[in-house]
Amino acid sequence: MDTAENTIIGHNTSLAEVFRTVGKVAPTDSTVLVTGESGTGKELLVRALHRKSARRDKPFVPINCGAIPRELLESELFGHEKGAFTHAIRTRPGRFEMAEGGTVFLDEIGEMDLLLQVKILRVLQEREIERVGGQGAKRVDVRIIAATNRVLEDEVAAGRFREDLYYRLNVIPLHLPALRERGEDILLLIDYFLNYFSSLKKRPPLQLCEEVRRVLEAYPWPGNVRELENLAERLSILCEGDTVMLEDLPAKILSQVGSVADLPPRVPKAAPAFQTGFSWPCIADLRERSLGLKEYLDTAEEKLLLEALSLSSGIKNQAAEILGIKRTTLIEKLKKRNME
Ligand SMILES: Nc1ncnc2c1ncn2[C@@H]1O[C@H](COP(=O)(O)OP(=O)(O)OP(=O)(O)O)[C@@H](O)[C@H]1O
Ligand SMILES: [Mg+2]
Repeated sequence: MDTAENTIIGHNTSLAEVFRTVGKVAPTDSTVLVTGESGTGKELLVRALHRKSARRDKPFVPINCGAIPRELLESELFGHEKGAFTHAIRTRPGRFEMAEGGTVFLDEIGEMDLLLQVKILRVLQEREIERVGGQGAKRVDVRIIAATNRVLEDEVAAGRFREDLYYRLNVIPLHLPALRERGEDILLLIDYFLNYFSSLKKRPPLQLCEEVRRVLEAYPWPGNVRELENLAERLSILCEGDTVMLEDLPAKILSQVGSVADLPPRVPKAAPAFQTGFSWPCIADLRERSLGLKEYLDTAEEKLLLEALSLSSGIKNQAAEILGIKRTTLIEKLKKRNME
C-alpha cells in the first residue's frame, strides 16, 4: 500500500469523474485549475497529475502564492538580476526557470496580487518570463497547474481576479467535492486512515462502533479530508480499546451532530474500496468465489451495470454515459441478462 501522502482514496461518483478527467488530461500539457474547499485533496491531486504526465522525471515546483509576501513573490517566481533591488546581491533564477521541462504548481492562486496576475498571464500566453531587473524575455517550457479554495468567478466579479487570466487558467477545471458531499467516502477514508495510523503505531486496526459511524457520517467536516485524517491519527494514539466508542470522539464533533438517537439510521452499502492504486483481480479472487473467468467477468459487469443504473435512477441514457458505452449497447447487455 502507498503511504498516506500519495494515495487518493474515494469511491464517490463526482470524484470518479475527477479521476477520469485526470487520466485524460495528465499526459497533455494543458493548464489545469483545481478548485475545492480547504483539505479536499487539491495538492494530492496536482502531484498525481504531475506523476502521471510525461514531465514526471522533470521538476515539480510548487509555490504557495498566499504564503510569500507580495513584494517577494515576483522575484521568487521569475528570478532577478544582480542589483535589481537593494538585497539583490547576485543574479538568481526564479521557480519558473527551476521547473524547466516540468510543472509549476501555483497554489492558492486566488491570493495573487493583480499586478502579478498580468505577468502570469504573459507566461501562459507567450511561454516567456522576465527576471526582475532583467533586460529581455526568456523562453520557458513548463506546464502550469493552479489551485485555489476561493470561488474564482466571485473573485472576478469583485474585481480581485483578472477575467482574462481566469479563462486562461480554466482550460481544464477540476473540482474536488467537499467531504460532506461524498457520502460513503467518509467511512471509506476513516477506515483507510485508521488502518494506516494503527499500523504505524503497531497496534491492531481500530474498529468503529455503529453509533460512531453514524456520527461521522452526519458531521459536516468543515476541514474535509485533512480534518478526518487528523482525527484518525488522534484516535490511533488516544483510543485505549480496539473499538472507537462515542466517548472517544472530540466534543466538537459530538456537539455539532447532536443526539445520536435523532440521526437517520445508516443504510449499509456494499461499496468496494476504490483507490487510484487500484489492484486488478487475480486468480485468488476467482478461486475464492469458485468462478471461471467468464462467470467472473460477467458478474463484475453486472455489478457495474446495476450501480450505473442506480446512480442514474434508472435513466438509461445517463447510465450508458456513466459506463462510457452506447445506450444501445447497454440495452443489449441488460436484455441478455433479463434486466430490461
Ligand atoms: N481522497 C483522498 N485520499 C487520501 N488522502 C487524502 C484525500 N484527499 C485529501 N487527502 C489528505 O488530506 C490532506 C489534505 O490534502 P491536501 O493538502 O491535498 O488538501 P488541499 O485541498 O490542498 O488543502 P488546502 O486548500 O488547505 O491547501 C493531505 O494529508 C492528503 O494526503
Ligand atoms: Mg493545498
